Amino acid sequence: MKKIRLGVNIDHVATVRNARGENYPSPLRAALLVKKKGADSVTIHLREDRRHINDLDLKLIKSKLKIPLNLEIAATKEMFKIALKYKPSFICIVPEKRREITTEGGLNLKYNNNFLKKIIYNLKKNGSRVSLFIEPKIKDLKESKNLNADCVEIHTGKFCNLVNKNKDYRKELIIIKKAVEFGNNLGLEVHAGHGLTFKSARILSKITGIKEFNIGHFLIGESIFLGLEKTIKEFKKILQK
Ligand code: PXP
Repeated sequence: MKKIRLGVNIDHVATVRNARGENYPSPLRAALLVKKKGADSVTIHLREDRRHINDLDLKLIKSKLKIPLNLEIAATKEMFKIALKYKPSFICIVPEKRREITTEGGLNLKYNNNFLKKIIYNLKKNGSRVSLFIEPKIKDLKESKNLNADCVEIHTGKFCNLVNKNKDYRKELIIIKKAVEFGNNLGLEVHAGHGLTFKSARILSKITGIKEFNIGHFLIGESIFLGLEKTIKEFKKILQK
């Protein structure tokens, strides 16, 4: 039986809260519930503009959550300072553009390479597992290894779009498969995330060598209809069958 971990991204609980400027629904409550219902880790993305998760959410969730917290951050001095202060178990460094709706692509690892190398070293020394959110490209896998990251998270957005639109996804699937294999051979732990639904997660879960899926938007949306418990159970079933 394959055992792929499920990380649940709860950013959009905060999106709903912030839409009305209220203090509910509570991301902390969601994080604790998600743990109770079987998630292996909880992901939050503290964006530079704080459009969903904010600093207080991070503080509360970090202090109360008993499973690993996966903090997604952009490669900025401010975010690295915050990550060093809170010491989350997992950190995923992601690209961030202020005007994008969501994280649109993988990191540009050539940009600020020395800065990234130094900060990855410091974050790891501080006790966090460090992952880089990248496109399924061989050059980015090699560069992630050079930067001494523990893991990479493959951006699955393009693949998921094709699946959602019922288009031919076979070429993209092969690209992801090759990237997973190459990453594993380099000794990197390989994860997958972005845009995943029941259908796309089912297809990608058949690839050997992906250790963790991070899923947010669809999972939180589906919970409106099925509830968090059933939605998480369904994803766990997909990832473990
Ligand atoms: N993984 C990473 C690195 C992300 O940036 C995101 C989006 O914040 C996700 C996973 C989750 O993507 P989605 O919300 O589309 O499931």
